[in-house]
Amino acid sequence: MRKQIAAANWKMNLTYQQGEKLLDDILKAKHQLKDHQQVIFAVPFPYLIMANSVVANEKNFSVAAQNCYHKKSGAYTGEVAAEMLHSIGIRYCVIGHSERREYFSESNQDLADKLNLLLENGITPIFCCGEPLAIREAGTQNSYVEVQLKESLFHLGAEQVKGIIIAYEPIWAIGTGKTASSAQAQEMHAHLRKVLADQYGDAVANEVSILYGGSVKAANAAEIFGQPDVDGGLVGGASLLAEEFSTIIASLK
Ligand code: 13P
Repeated sequence: MRKQIAAANWKMNLTYQQGEKLLDDILKAKHQLKDHQQVIFAVPFPYLIMANSVVANEKNFSVAAQNCYHKKSGAYTGEVAAEMLHSIGIRYCVIGHSERREYFSESNQDLADKLNLLLENGITPIFCCGEPLAIREAGTQNSYVEVQLKESLFHLGAEQVKGIIIAYEPIWAIGTGKTASSAQAQEMHAHLRKVLADQYGDAVANEVSILYGGSVKAANAAEIFGQPDVDGGLVGGASLLAEEFSTIIASLK
């Protein structure tokens, strides 16, 4: 079975102490993850080492950075390189979140460069894609998201693509309380898998975990994760609440 993943994206929330407590509260629930299940906490940079040590002895719990820079190293004050993440034992990194694309003008080409740097450093990218409301209303979401994939991913070989996690996050569903219906999520996930299959073949496409993000919460996780092409979720607001996120973890296939 493909990896089924509950990924928490804390975004720019919580103090260090609040973050420690949240991790502690979630781990207290003693989730027994199956071999194909994974929980990932994408935490702010200053908390990465702490979070990594908190989950170190927990089966299938990992930590992700929320971003990295698209250059290897150098005079880029304030930025964090993939190699730095590798050097502190981080194995996952979210890239291309719609908030980064919108507020920090990240282009598909920047994300292609980030993917290369992460893969060179043995870090699994969690590559985000998704359309704004106007595109959904125009009904052109499939081709919009396809371009995001093509321009950022398609220079990679099949073996590299197998090592990527994709997160589909329709922008109109992020932080709005307005979730895509499970049917809308399934339709897009199946489309994304077909786009991958057309380029890399069915075997590769069937190995890539595709997460849904956008107002996932305890009350809707099981239905969304139950769709055949949805392999878990990337969760914002509800990941900041121990009980909510614990239920989301328990909703993985
Ligand atoms: P919400 O779960 O708060 O809608 O955020 C989704 C998201 O952006 C996760 O990366």
